Amino acid sequence: MAIKPEVVKGVNDICDKYANEPSPLMMILSAIQKEYGYIPLEVQQIISDRTGIPVAEIYGVVTFYSFFSLKPKGKYVIGICLGTACFVKNSQQVIDKFSTLLGIKAGETTKDGLFTIEAIRCIGACALAPAMSINGKVYPKVTPDQVGKIIDEYKKMEAEA
Ligand code: FES
Repeated sequence: MAIKPEVVKGVNDICDKYANEPSPLMMILSAIQKEYGYIPLEVQQIISDRTGIPVAEIYGVVTFYSFFSLKPKGKYVIGICLGTACFVKNSQQVIDKFSTLLGIKAGETTKDGLFTIEAIRCIGACALAPAMSINGKVYPKVTPDQVGKIIDEYKKMEAEA
């Protein structure tokens, strides 16, 4: 994938902005994720060229933290918790239901770019297990039966937008 010159410039500017921080990589990656929505390998190479940080190190950080993404995410990111408290309350079944209804697996995005499903770790809402979130909005005690309705809410919101 060829990166547009303005993106190369934008990434280099972000690298320069944080160059003098004690540990610049997290700040650089956070700023790039926020600005562009994802951090593909080509962009990691640009960061490496600018900062001297090895690509392997950058890749390690991007893939370790779930809030960084190698691929573009959908407009609505559905995060279903697979932490212990949620898992024992059948959160896997909630993921399966989203997968069936949206036709994608966890980690994938629908072709229309609307939805991404993510299996996530504990979001600190264990008392509300099984918990999930969509773009940060937390849904408590979700059952597979509610999934269709939740998807419809967002589709309706899109249709009205
Ligand atoms: S384990 Fe799911 S919110 Fe804590």
